[in-house]
Amino acid sequence: MNKSERPQISSQSKGEKGLDFDLAIVGGRVIDPESRMDRIANILVQNGVIKRIEKPESKIRAKRIIQAKGKVVVPGLIDMHAHLREPGREDEETIHTGSCAAVAGGFTSICCMPNTQPPIDNQEAVRFIYQKAKDALCKIFCVGCITKGQKGEEITEICDLVQAGVVAISDDGLPVSNSQVLRNALEYSRMLDLPVISHCEDLNLSIGGVMHEGFISTTLGMSGIPSVAEEAVVARDIKLAEFTGAKIHIAHVSTEGSVDLIRQAKRKGIKVSCEATPHHFTLTDEIIRTFETNAKVNPPLRTRKDVDAIKRGLFDGTIDCIATDHAPHSIEEKEVEFDSAPFGMVGLETALGLVITELVKKRVLSWTQAIAKLTINPAKILNLKGGRIKRNFPADITIIDPKASWIVDPSKFHSKSKNSPFGGWKLQGKVCYTIVDGKVVYQG
Ligand code: DOR
Repeated sequence: MNKSERPQISSQSKGEKGLDFDLAIVGGRVIDPESRMDRIANILVQNGVIKRIEKPESKIRAKRIIQAKGKVVVPGLIDMHAHLREPGREDEETIHTGSCAAVAGGFTSICCMPNTQPPIDNQEAVRFIYQKAKDALCKIFCVGCITKGQKGEEITEICDLVQAGVVAISDDGLPVSNSQVLRNALEYSRMLDLPVISHCEDLNLSIGGVMHEGFISTTLGMSGIPSVAEEAVVARDIKLAEFTGAKIHIAHVSTEGSVDLIRQAKRKGIKVSCEATPHHFTLTDEIIRTFETNAKVNPPLRTRKDVDAIKRGLFDGTIDCIATDHAPHSIEEKEVEFDSAPFGMVGLETALGLVITELVKKRVLSWTQAIAKLTINPAKILNLKGGRIKRNFPADITIIDPKASWIVDPSKFHSKSKNSPFGGWKLQGKVCYTIVDGKVVYQG
């Protein structure tokens, strides 16, 4: 135990029944976006729960003390969109390895998408996920399929899935092309207050495309995925949400047109929310000139205009959440010609660094805005008890060194897969501690 971690002895601020607190986080800049708290404070934790938030000068007694001077202390990050590949592709990721990547990236809760092999479309499959999640380092929340086998034809037994614990339904990776099928799902989900997460893609427009359709795809002679392939379905989904009165959440928004449609829908009071990924607010289709298959994602990286629109959408609140779309793929699958590579990149371990480097440092978002999109906003959309630094809330806490910079080295990722186009990038903002239910599960 080093000097800074040695418990301090004082008669004040004892834990319940006069015992020491289990953990004290001392002198950090504590940000809780929901209450607009942004001040230096001490956080005291007992039995996995935040028990007190005190002035920095208060004396404390705790079994473990983390000195957080100069650090930013935020609610544990929540990723509402990750692919953990279990069951079916455990060579690429498992729930356990995904959770290791998550905590290294500052996430205390992640949602796993159901496009596994087989897909998570029944109670047994959901129970399997929660069974495996028992030895995860962070909290795992399961998303179930909208349609059986993700075929887009017949809706799943949504009530059964909810009983087994899904927090949302989605066919992510694929759209629900049949509007009547999506309408049925929305009507059930409204009754159950269950969010529907929509992957917006008109397959007739996107099929065969490998990158954004535009100047660069033409130059490279590659087949493109036009913006309208996303926007046409975003428009339809908004109309269906309005018509049914259900909530819809649009996954990985990538175009200026989608941001505009969602902004207008929100103004009209339609219950639509959405997320953007770090890669869609950081990279453009320029990177595809290098034929970097790790930058091949769906939806594809778009143009500078789209990236700027996403940043505006993040700033003005049109875009509620930042989600990783962590999509592990094996080296063998990615080390092929661009056309043949699968879509997806890992993101859990670079998300926070990209948010700080690209959004906070460049003054696109304040700390409070950025952290809200990684904590309370996804918690609210998914009805999770979390995303707060507040008395009697679970002690899910992330401690960040805002000044430390680091070079991304995918070979050091905790994820089983290394398919990141950010290798060699210098990012600012490092995770120092990730704390789940009062336990330190990662120390950077
Ligand atoms: O790039 C992507 N990869 N987009 C998706 O929607 C699915 C994901 C995957 O599962 O690999």
